[in-house]
Amino acid sequence: MGGVPWLFPEPALMLGEWRNRQRLYLEEIERDRRAAEAALAGSPSAATRARLERLVAAYGEHLVTVSGLLAPLGLVAVPAGHATMNAFGVTLPQRQDLHSYYTNLHRDWCWGALENQLALDAVRAALPDRRDTRLAVLGAGSGRLAYDLHQSGLVGETVALDINPLLVLVAREMIEGRSVWLHEFPLAPRTAAETAVRRELKAPVAVRPGLRLVFGDAFAAPFPPASFDAVLTPWLADIVDEDIASLATAVNRLLVPGGRWIYHGSASFVGRGPADRYNIEEVDERVRQTGFAAPVWQSADMPYMRSPASRHSRVETVLTFASVKQHEAPERPGHHPGSDWLTNLSLPIPLSPALELAGIAARIQAFTLSLVNGERSAAELAEFLVAQGLLDPESSMAAVLGLLQRLTDAERRPPPH
Ligand SMILES: C[S@@+](CC[C@H](N)C(=O)[O-])C[C@H]1O[C@@H](n2cnc3c(N)ncnc32)[C@H](O)[C@@H]1O
Repeated sequence: MGGVPWLFPEPALMLGEWRNRQRLYLEEIERDRRAAEAALAGSPSAATRARLERLVAAYGEHLVTVSGLLAPLGLVAVPAGHATMNAFGVTLPQRQDLHSYYTNLHRDWCWGALENQLALDAVRAALPDRRDTRLAVLGAGSGRLAYDLHQSGLVGETVALDINPLLVLVAREMIEGRSVWLHEFPLAPRTAAETAVRRELKAPVAVRPGLRLVFGDAFAAPFPPASFDAVLTPWLADIVDEDIASLATAVNRLLVPGGRWIYHGSASFVGRGPADRYNIEEVDERVRQTGFAAPVWQSADMPYMRSPASRHSRVETVLTFASVKQHEAPERPGHHPGSDWLTNLSLPIPLSPALELAGIAARIQAFTLSLVNGERSAAELAEFLVAQGLLDPESSMAAVLGLLQRLTDAERRPPPH
């Protein structure tokens, strides 16, 4: 993929998945450009018009740049329209989108010197004290930390692995010494001129040999067991759906006995069910149960995504731990437990309760939406649903408004950045 190995258990499925996301992403940028253009025509305020003009121009350029960067994905024209793509979500978690970590690109390769240095210092202190370490960075994103660690001379070989094509393809440009010009769209621009800022992303110096990029899944990393002396997972455990024990198992497999897992990032697992919203004692316990010695923890307050163009940023108490592999991890179910039909495409798909429910919900939604014809009111829709026996009169109106609001809110989503 643009010269970077694409090493997934299901390479073609993954490619299809990212192409769908690419199509949606490009459509979203164009939709936002048109929305800004339409707003421009109707705006009485000179200041608002100036901001919108800037945005319209920036989105236009952004579309060209992003299309160019993602060209290696080889997007092919297909008959499926936006609606079809939207209907058939995705096998990757929805929050892993092409633009999910867009600001990281700018932080990594433009304005993030302090944040990058703090991350490097925290992780460097946890690395084995030798110069020939074989290091894997899982979820390396656009690669700055992997690059800095590699440049530090504390490692011999570095492999930076990630699933996200936009991030990895920019990382490739950086590592090969080229510049990428990309717009940043700050969340809370400091000035009107900073509504959209065109920035040059570039590595400070040419990278020394031995740093390689790989497209891959951290939970099915394309390396034989015991390939690495150290595995770093920076800001990964908190954003994946899998729990920390699954990550620990995947990391354990990659490490030589005595090898070191270095965890760096947030320990906020808020997107999970109540049992999986671990605190650090629980993380500690899971790590020790997965073949690792007791982790050595450090934590420090660090600025996070402090763009000079934005009034918005956060401070995180970032955790870093190193833990030595003592023995192999106990067996765990595979990456897709119970979903053989995902890997053997000729197997029948079991009608699980979740799929059955989703099917019924989708039919009810489709029915409700088919009633929207430009003439009927929300009250009429609610009555229809009651007449069909789908809802009772008390909850029908709230349900209709909730659905329609959710769907129209999607149109007002903030632009991708
Ligand atoms: C919060 S970002 C952190 C990026 C980078 N490590 C940093 O510190 O800036 C999480 C990264 O994990 C990647 N990621 C998510 N799921 C992954 C998976 N299953 N395998 C590999 N990378 C994954 C995302 O694409 C993204 O680059």
